[in-house]
Amino acid sequence: MKHIKIALIPGDGIGPEVIAEGVKVLKAIEKMDSDISFSFTTFPYGCEYYLENGRMMDEDGIEKLKEFDAIYLGAVGYPGVPDHISLRDLLLRIRKEFDQYVNLRPISLLNPSLTPLKSRTEEDIDMLVIRENSEGEYAGAGDWLFPGKPEEVVLQTGVFSRKGTERIIRYAYEEARKSNRSLTSISKGNALNYSMVFWDSVFEEVGKEYPDVKTFSYLVDAASLYFVSNPERFEVVVTSNLFGDIVTDIGAAITGGLGFATGANINPEKAFPSMFEPVHGSAPDIAGKGIANPIAVIWSVSQMLDFFGESNWGKAVLTTIKDLLREKDYHTKEIGGSASTRQVGNRFVEKLIKSMSP
Ligand code: NAD
Ligand code: IPM
Ligand code: MN
Repeated sequence: MKHIKIALIPGDGIGPEVIAEGVKVLKAIEKMDSDISFSFTTFPYGCEYYLENGRMMDEDGIEKLKEFDAIYLGAVGYPGVPDHISLRDLLLRIRKEFDQYVNLRPISLLNPSLTPLKSRTEEDIDMLVIRENSEGEYAGAGDWLFPGKPEEVVLQTGVFSRKGTERIIRYAYEEARKSNRSLTSISKGNALNYSMVFWDSVFEEVGKEYPDVKTFSYLVDAASLYFVSNPERFEVVVTSNLFGDIVTDIGAAITGGLGFATGANINPEKAFPSMFEPVHGSAPDIAGKGIANPIAVIWSVSQMLDFFGESNWGKAVLTTIKDLLREKDYHTKEIGGSASTRQVGNRFVEKLIKSMSP
């Protein structure tokens, strides 16, 4: 019997609305498979918690979360609390403290009707972006000098350590080798003369150990263009924290929007919990309406199950998502449908159960 201890952080805005649907899926799987069980503990961390307590999480929040196998997170951030506080003290803090240095963001077209690109198929848009998730411009290093004075200067330093750069690039080469796909590095060595020149050199150096992996290297501006004009060029992609953040939203755009973008924040060594979450935020513009698309967060369930070695379930969840998307009645508003978050979740569970029964 496999038991997975899950910490739920539904968070802000549409976070709780979509997480509720993901939990339904996990509970349905538990019912169907006597070899797997989940326990759920909910943590109220988020912007409301901050407004009441002056902190984004308990003082010993990290210690508490450490006890879990996985964190399943909805979204963080809401008007009323400055973003740099809410995100840095909760989401980014968890990524950092638990050394979740690999951010796996699949960009796959789930249904041809979803892409705004002309005549593109599922084969054309099918890549895995591996985003460095622990340093770069997100390291929090910098300074704010002479605030308010004419000589005011702010510094936001990108931190690229040998260890941090090498481990993510190596992870990506391994992934490309394992799946027999090409590997593309996205960087910006023409302008960022320290960080990205270093990144490129590590990419080349580690690549010598993987002569069987076909590689490409693009500047981030050109890569952003190719994501739209030639997405078929990309199979496995490795990039820095900030560039990874940006190109995966472009990836979301070409696959139907943020309602279809998932991300796993992985500590591959399993020394700490990994975190599974949609790429999207709290979407204040649609929060509370019950119309958010729960597909991204359901896809996170698939990533979670893959990570814990339950790839049959991981695949079943993804196949059911694709199946469900063929039913226009279960499309949410942002893609032209009228289904509610809950209707999509319920229909998903119904279909998953049906697909698994003999
Ligand atoms: P957002 O992702 O919340 O929304 C961007 C757009 O996408 C909005 O129009 C929204 O309605 C739409 N959208 C997002 N998710 C959707 C879904 N599931 N279904 C349908 N439409 C969806 O980004 P934002 O507006 O820039 O940020 C809002 C807040 O969320 C900010 O505080 C931001 O810092 C935070 N944020 C948090 C995370 C996270 O917790 N992982 C990620 C991104 C942004
Ligand atoms: C994401 C988000 C976060 C990031 C923000 C909310 C800090 O945009 O997960 O893509 O930049 O990593
Ligand atoms: Mn982002």
